[in-house]
Amino acid sequence: MQHIGIMSSRFEGDNIILIGFMGAGKSTVGRELERLGGMCLIDLDSVIVQLAGYSIPEIFAAEGEESFRDYEAAALRSLVGVHRTVIATGGGIIGREENWKIMHQLGPIVYLRAAWVTLRRRLAGSQGRPLADAGLELPQVEELWRRRLPLYEQADISVDTDDLNAPEVAMSILQKIGRREGNINA
Ligand code: S3P
Repeated sequence: MQHIGIMSSRFEGDNIILIGFMGAGKSTVGRELERLGGMCLIDLDSVIVQLAGYSIPEIFAAEGEESFRDYEAAALRSLVGVHRTVIATGGGIIGREENWKIMHQLGPIVYLRAAWVTLRRRLAGSQGRPLADAGLELPQVEELWRRRLPLYEQADISVDTDDLNAPEVAMSILQKIGRREGNINA
């Protein structure tokens, strides 16, 4: 298995935190980083579902968004102590200051940037996303994206994903955070 050695210590933790709007490709790129780098992958939405005991649309419907955000923050906190793990977050993780503190502690925060046209295309037919499903009109989703943009831009590293495939995005991330593949036979 390939391992990635840490070439730089400018980040607190040795994980990689992926942030970005719904449809940015966080889970797909996470799987590429897992494959390329011999890292583990945790999808934060899955941790939330485990914590809450029911699905994300069910949490939104039964308890509302604030409660979902509480589960989300708790799920993130539960990851303190993990190592060499790619954490694919949900698009709204950037809304709470406390989440930023934890993310910084975990490792470099990487923003998967994408233009609205790209996101709109990727979100077409999306299911299981209460904030982007049929219930919300597209202009409202775009407005949400616009409001969040300055927050995403606070990431440590950004990658423009519009013209890249998932392996290219993953390689670009590894280059930017200063990690190299090594110990190929380890
Ligand atoms: C959300 C994004 C979703 C999920 C939830 C809320 C958001 O994750 O956490 O539906 O607020 O943007 P993805 O970004 O993985 O779709």
